[in-house]
Amino acid sequence: MELCRKNDLEEGQARGFTVAGFDRKIILVRRDGRIRAYRDACPHYSAGTPMAWKTDAYLNGARTHLVCHAHGAQFDIDTGKCVSGPCLGQSLTAIPVIINQSGGIEIAVQTEGEKSA
Ligand code: FES
Repeated sequence: MELCRKNDLEEGQARGFTVAGFDRKIILVRRDGRIRAYRDACPHYSAGTPMAWKTDAYLNGARTHLVCHAHGAQFDIDTGKCVSGPCLGQSLTAIPVIINQSGGIEIAVQTEGEKSA
């Protein structure tokens, strides 16, 4: 399933996508030309907390880190690891993505729903 086109995600931008088969939004973030994807669930609490205080507000002001606006945890964009805040050392859950031949960004894993279909 294609989330968006690579060109629809600007450098230094993060966007959240609701994806069938996933219980949380998937965050796509583009930095230095690389695209990463993470489950929108802050590891500060075991159930995971949605990180944005408003639509697509996943980055800090300088756009250098993903941020959870609940208590200010900041995450390395490339690794998903918390580098500042109450869940220091914990990580966001990375979701593998691929760029298809048409330039679309797709999740590279099957969801539970797709496996049973
Ligand atoms: S829930 Fe994310 S920092 Fe507390």
